[in-house]
Amino acid sequence: MDYPRDFINKIICGNSVDVMKKIPSESIDLIVTSPPYNLKNSTGNGMKDGRGGKWKNASLVNGYSNYNDNMPHSQYVKWQRECLNEMLRLIKEDGAIFYNHKWRVQGGLLQDRQDIVKGLPVRQIIIWRRKGGINFNPGYFLPTYEVIYLIAKPKFILAHKANASGDVWEFKQEMKNTHPAPFPVALIDRIIKSTNAEIILDPFMGSGTTAVTAIGNNRSFIGIDISPEYCKMAEKRIKRNEKHSEVFQLNEQMTMFETIK
Ligand SMILES: C[S@@+](CC[C@H](N)C(=O)[O-])C[C@H]1O[C@@H](n2cnc3c(N)ncnc32)[C@H](O)[C@@H]1O
Repeated sequence: MDYPRDFINKIICGNSVDVMKKIPSESIDLIVTSPPYNLKNSTGNGMKDGRGGKWKNASLVNGYSNYNDNMPHSQYVKWQRECLNEMLRLIKEDGAIFYNHKWRVQGGLLQDRQDIVKGLPVRQIIIWRRKGGINFNPGYFLPTYEVIYLIAKPKFILAHKANASGDVWEFKQEMKNTHPAPFPVALIDRIIKSTNAEIILDPFMGSGTTAVTAIGNNRSFIGIDISPEYCKMAEKRIKRNEKHSEVFQLNEQMTMFETIK
């Protein structure tokens, strides 16, 4: 595979680390991604016992179509660190990675993701406040947020005035998408509009949210996913967006909301 010809504005079906290894160093402006959370390796949340929680995204009880999301914890941490180190190699000296993850309680104790990001240039943790949550446990309050680690090289700066968004973002989870764990378009739109990035990579592309949001903002994308089913889903969604841009619809809704306010 040749870079950029075989990568830019393409969905590549494969293992993210293997595909990233084929991309030259410092060729990407921005990485936006949400890896599998290893949800099925758990001491007993709604995923493991098969109940799944209250919303339909609990289809994650079945794992992903080509990946069961159930690694021994130490192996998972090692894998995610390998992915992040590869991502770090790929971004330019003013590049950044927005790495979405979720903290959880394991055996009664908080498991944050410090073991994954330790030693990496984490600049900020953004809280993504969702509506409701999925772990019902009388031992602790219902978790209602995920985190987005902003991991940045020294010269990274935000787009003009983007810092006014603050570090707690409220977006409803996506309910219409048939992928088991999709990003909401509005969340990725906030991230992309907050940067001047031209080439945006998502090494765990799933249903293609990062791709369609990049296109809607006139940026280029590279998407990788291991599942042929999700790769097809992403390609179809990109085609659909040529006629009905999800970013355009989002912008319309925001304009309407501003007018009503
Ligand atoms: C949390 S989902 C990403 C969803 C995506 N953000 C969206 O909006 O649809 C994680 C994705 O990682 C993919 N995946 C799992 N292991 C992978 C691997 N080794 N390489 C590439 N993709 C992988 C899964 O197929 C799944 O689609």
